[in-house]
Amino acid sequence: MACFLVSVFLLVLQVHAAPSELLQTGLTLDSTVLNPGLAANFSEDATPSPPPGTSKRTPHSIIIGVRKGGTRALLEMLDIHPEVAVAATEVHFFDWDDNYAKGLEWYRELMPYSYPHQITVEKTPGYFTSALAPERICAMNSSIKLLLILRDPTERVISDYTQVYFNRLENHKPVQAIENLLVRSGALNIRYKAIQRSLYDVHMRNWLRHFPLEQIHIVDGDALIRDPLPELQKVERFLNLPPRIVSSNFYFNQTKGFYCIRSDGRERCLHESKGRPHPSVNGTVLQQLRSFLREHNRTFFRLVKRTFDWQ
Ligand code: A3P
Repeated sequence: MACFLVSVFLLVLQVHAAPSELLQTGLTLDSTVLNPGLAANFSEDATPSPPPGTSKRTPHSIIIGVRKGGTRALLEMLDIHPEVAVAATEVHFFDWDDNYAKGLEWYRELMPYSYPHQITVEKTPGYFTSALAPERICAMNSSIKLLLILRDPTERVISDYTQVYFNRLENHKPVQAIENLLVRSGALNIRYKAIQRSLYDVHMRNWLRHFPLEQIHIVDGDALIRDPLPELQKVERFLNLPPRIVSSNFYFNQTKGFYCIRSDGRERCLHESKGRPHPSVNGTVLQQLRSFLREHNRTFFRLVKRTFDWQ
């Protein structure tokens, strides 16, 4: 029913908003979300000329998160596949009210041009923890295939902290030691957003209200770091893609300490912001965090009928 109501809302928006109006609205996109290259596609004197035989379509699959789970690595690795076209940017279409009101036509415009034999994939890591995204995505396409990449939730908290730490440094804002954020008045600060985002059971429940488990493929983010190919092969099967990603598409870069990608005669590693060293965390605080998350992890394993190798 909820899915139906949102569908009706979207339909009404599409009827009332002509595509040209929506394109103009796209000109005011937030530059922190869209990269400048993509935003340039919307300028009036640089109308993009699509490659012949291609079109823009709403995605067949969305990588819904989790933030710091390895979403960029997964998207870049999937992009190796000749039958996959990936979106150049995170759109946040389904969890921001102002974007959502612009309608599906606008969203489609942000997708890459793809050939009929290709599937389109976008990633927006914030969707997994968004209260609104599941219902809205379901209203757009109730049979969409969802990809969710998760890693050890304790590691994810530290990774989340590290990202915010570096962002704040770049913006000349004050930073705090991780322990000061994890602990308040001697107890674990479970209101800390980085912890909240690691409560996988809580967020998964929200998705399972709108999608059957079979429609959400969980990629093991820790396994993807250790050895990407098997995880990518599972994704190929889930998306009904022919097996095209092979071991020679990956090589281990000793300096980076991560696998990098070899495809179309090019070698590339992820941006330096991916795979940063983490701070060491006080042992007692770390134990507090692990034991708090343990029960949530167990509940999550029951929900998804599968276990993960998390400490
Ligand atoms: P860290 O930087 O904390 O190590 P996301 O893209 O969702 O923000 O996830 C970032 C995480 O992807 C990184 O977190 C890193 O551990 C992980 N990752 C997985 N495979 C990677 C790869 N091949 N290169 C770099 N980082 C990778």
